[in-house]
Amino acid sequence: MDIVDFHAHIIPRADHGSSSVEVSVNQLSLAQQSGVTRIVATPHFYPARDSVESFLERRNRHFAELREANKTECSIRLGAEVLICDNLESMPRLERLCISGTNTLLLELPFSDFEKQYQITVKSLIDRGLDVVLAHADRYEPENIEKLVSLGARIQLNASSLVGFFKPKHLYKWMERELVVALGSDIHGADRKYYKNFVTAKSKIGEHLLYIKRQSDEIWNRATED
Ligand SMILES: [Fe+2]
Repeated sequence: MDIVDFHAHIIPRADHGSSSVEVSVNQLSLAQQSGVTRIVATPHFYPARDSVESFLERRNRHFAELREANKTECSIRLGAEVLICDNLESMPRLERLCISGTNTLLLELPFSDFEKQYQITVKSLIDRGLDVVLAHADRYEPENIEKLVSLGARIQLNASSLVGFFKPKHLYKWMERELVVALGSDIHGADRKYYKNFVTAKSKIGEHLLYIKRQSDEIWNRATED
């Protein structure tokens, strides 16, 4: 079953995910070899260091180089992995960081303390019509993810969180509750492990795959090519 890779750092020099066009082309080849041909490119966006304009200019310029060099069958849609901060909701032109043509924003939480303010930020984003998808929700304290899910946020899981010998129970509970709408390789560099994990995760989650596929296809089908 062909599932969208919803979280990938494959744009050359847009962040630390790929240092060159060659690395990016290798990443796409690895994806294709694993049966992944639809990828949402999500370079990191750090609001304290970057503006929306300079980020988009850099991302789009380097994407044009990759598009030129890409001879694989992989299609790419552009997005961003946006790090949350206080008052993110009031950042001008934030909507432009959504996956192109959609209202879906891939939002990253910090690994440090979970601030109460984040709930206010996420609520404001959702009230404003954004479809907030929490990047690699598997990495955080489940209680904190629950606080944001109760506001309407949805979940992206990294494939690597699903490949271990033991089933991570809370992740399966989220899948049962139909909160998980996307899987990601979160590929950085051209290591084979990322898409190997993607394939393994797909086979492990069984019946849940269909719901995730439907949801991520729905977002993909709304996305526009840049
Ligand atoms: Fe990432």
